[in-house]
Amino acid sequence: MSSSLNRKPVSQKGYLLVENVEHDFVRTQVLQNIGFTVQAGEVYALVGPSGCGKTTLLHLCNGLLDLQDGIIENTFQKTASMFQQPRLLPWKTCLDNMTLGLKAKGWNKKDRNLKGLKLAKLVGLQPSDLEKFPHQLSGGMQSRVALARVLLLEPDLLLLDEPFSALDIGLKTELYQLLLEQQTQQDLAVLMITHDLMEAVRLSDNILLMKSKPGRIAASFKLTRPPSLRDDAWVYQTTAELLQQPIVRESFELPPPTSPSPVDLATREWSYTC
Ligand SMILES: Nc1ncnc2c1ncn2[C@@H]1O[C@H](COP(=O)(O)OP(=O)(O)OP(=O)(O)O)[C@@H](O)[C@H]1O
Ligand SMILES: [Mg+2]
Repeated sequence: MSSSLNRKPVSQKGYLLVENVEHDFVRTQVLQNIGFTVQAGEVYALVGPSGCGKTTLLHLCNGLLDLQDGIIENTFQKTASMFQQPRLLPWKTCLDNMTLGLKAKGWNKKDRNLKGLKLAKLVGLQPSDLEKFPHQLSGGMQSRVALARVLLLEPDLLLLDEPFSALDIGLKTELYQLLLEQQTQQDLAVLMITHDLMEAVRLSDNILLMKSKPGRIAASFKLTRPPSLRDDAWVYQTTAELLQQPIVRESFELPPPTSPSPVDLATREWSYTC
């Protein structure tokens, strides 16, 4: 897919523009001609098989890796990243972990704890959890702390690398809800990586489907129903429809469908470009 096709008018509120990005690790090309633009209020999901270069691309977007080739322009005011592992400091309490970013910005303890308490409630942490250390928290609670930590920074761009992949379905659903609420209230732009096509269908407006070797964008799917109106039935149906598309099956190295059922073009709520 040519990145120039993704050029679109950019918003005053901020944008992340990625154009013709290529990346090699020791003479092996990992990313080829990657291009897309995420604007304020948009949720993009980056979906593809293991090893296709999703994390590499996210690390280029948040500056953890140096750009070798192409353009990455981020005009958002505040970018925050959340990783697959909660990455909490083991010697700090839950509240101190949550408010680390505010401390770095020079906030005094009283103000940052006040803000931390407010957000803890929002992500479903009990006041009694806040004085606990990470090893005393379940994986789900650690993920809530990690989510609270990024939201406390009041980012306008959120970069997520499979933050919910280790969680059970109930907790995932809760955190999805929370993320979507924050995203719509704050007009957040989100670029999230996931292996899980259903997660992408549940949360995003645009799905960038990647292929491996080298990692490249094979297709871009646009979902027209607002995420707040997507119930389970819609998510299952739409995921099943996407999974019938040859380009999706090829990207995930799945065999052709044995008995494909035709997708009704008049009622489907997605479109795609290759
Ligand atoms: N620091 C590195 N040095 C050399 N090769 C690397 C490095 N980091 C990643 N790679 C290679 O680059 C490719 C893409 O890796 P990346 O972690 O970006 O994939 P991914 O799509 O995020 O995979 P997963 O879904 O399993 O997390 C892989 O082949 C990986 O082995
Ligand atoms: Mg990865």
